[in-house]
Amino acid sequence: MKKIKIVETALRDAHQSLLATRMRTRDMLPIVEEMDKIGFHALESWGGATFDTCIRYLNEDPWERLRSLKEHAKKTPLQMLLRGQNLVGYKHYPDDIVKKFVEKSYENGIDIFRIFDALNDVRNMQYSIKIAKDQGAHVQGVLSYTTSPYHTLESYVEFAHELEALDCDSIAIKDMAGLITPTDTYQLVKKLKEETDLMVNLHCHCTSGMTPMSYYAACQAGVDILDTAISPLAWGASQPPTESIVAALKDTPYDTGIDLVSLTEIKKYFEDIRKKYSSLLDPIAEKIDTDVLIYQIPGGMLSNLVSQLKEQNALDRYEDVLKEMPKVRKEMGYPPLVTPSSQIVGIQAVMNVLGEERYKMVSNEVKEYFKGYYGKPPAPVDKQIAEKIIGDEKPIDSRPADILEPQFERYKEEGEEAGLISKEEDVLTLALYPAVAPKFLKGEGEEETIEPPQDTNEQASPGEIPSEYSVEVDGDLFNVKIVPTGYMAIEEASESSANSGPMEGGVSSTMQGMILKLKVNPGDKVNEGDVVAVIEAMKMENDIYATHGGKVDKILTAEGETVNAGDTLMVIN
Ligand code: CO
Repeated sequence: MKKIKIVETALRDAHQSLLATRMRTRDMLPIVEEMDKIGFHALESWGGATFDTCIRYLNEDPWERLRSLKEHAKKTPLQMLLRGQNLVGYKHYPDDIVKKFVEKSYENGIDIFRIFDALNDVRNMQYSIKIAKDQGAHVQGVLSYTTSPYHTLESYVEFAHELEALDCDSIAIKDMAGLITPTDTYQLVKKLKEETDLMVNLHCHCTSGMTPMSYYAACQAGVDILDTAISPLAWGASQPPTESIVAALKDTPYDTGIDLVSLTEIKKYFEDIRKKYSSLLDPIAEKIDTDVLIYQIPGGMLSNLVSQLKEQNALDRYEDVLKEMPKVRKEMGYPPLVTPSSQIVGIQAVMNVLGEERYKMVSNEVKEYFKGYYGKPPAPVDKQIAEKIIGDEKPIDSRPADILEPQFERYKEEGEEAGLISKEEDVLTLALYPAVAPKFLKGEGEEETIEPPQDTNEQASPGEIPSEYSVEVDGDLFNVKIVPTGYMAIEEASESSANSGPMEGGVSSTMQGMILKLKVNPGDKVNEGDVVAVIEAMKMENDIYATHGGKVDKILTAEGETVNAGDTLMVIN
């Protein structure tokens, strides 16, 4: 009898989808041995956003987490989600970093590498696949699922063949927003089983409400592996409940072989965890959101913004936001909406709607996207928009990582000099998160306390369009204050601070975020329009321009510092 294998996602995707990826290692370890006994195909437990949140919010060493999980899960393979050449970050890393990262992940306990690329560009996956294969790991190549006129059954099969040619051991259909219908699931799984020799794994989120039906259709079409989450961490933006799928398939040709009763203790344990983290539970992520079927906006991404607009009686903007996202996606060549393309498209849609002109304000990531640095979009991009953003510069057509210089040795040296490195893994942490890692590696990080989400909206009066929003990106809430933007904008901002008195010649920040780079030093001469600083906001990098030429008089911020919109960063006279 054919058995369906189950991947339990409680330790990674489920809390990333529902609890802003904040579950601590100490809240995982007491139950891992119990989970290890169940007979899961794998425990998805690392990668994705877990690495970032560990060092940014939890003051935890992600490598340490991996080793501890491995010690407690002796039988069940540990699985990680790897963003291809982006690893567990948001940009492309050079091959030497990718090699070291994959080697160290394997060495510390990863058995199954689930590898995807946000654009389904196989050139961004081939190197990490090769290195993982070299280690002897199981490699699962991913089809990031989306729908568009360019994403046909044939195009997915073709992509699956490319992954098979790279020696992948299995294929996952990764349906980030639960968009796949039962019929499409049946056809795609069946086709992949007919056309390849690989195991097929279906990974869906419940966002649209169709997922349990699609899972059953997948079983009928011959799927091998399904991803589920223990019920307290299931539904909504997460996976279908493990217990329900186990029960539904029992005594059918698709029996999972898992004993339902054996899950009871695990369920109870995670009920308590859910309670403990309830302040992080986003009510929107918990719900079924059928708008996703119409607008393709993945669960929760813009919903906070949308609900605030609703409260403000600014429903005209609500429609705008909903409609803008698919427009931007089309103009950018129909990228599947998954990290990092979901952020790139999502934030651009927000900027387009709230700014005075579409694409007037663009992040560096959007510029790089149009230059081809993220790879080849699934469909041609809009020519006029591309011209507006990158002028007549021709996008690269090589593998994006080919243009990157090796970095490992440089980070190693720099890190050692700064006293940050006590093991090789620290070099990787530094290379992936150069802005937040130093504080963490120095032992100066602090664990965020678990508290109720902030109401960022209290000052706005009814009927008025708020100038501050919170936007959710990948489970993280960001406060966005809208001020006039771009080059002109800073001028206005600095004028207003000049009016209020002391900061004549000040250059202000256009958004709330962290100063990633200062491009000038006191005493430097700058011209009007020069980039003087780079700020990271909503995980995107944005340039801050000099509003006027002159000499840098004073710098009032530092790299790594968090600033608010309107804060004066430096004075140029
Ligand atoms: Co997922």
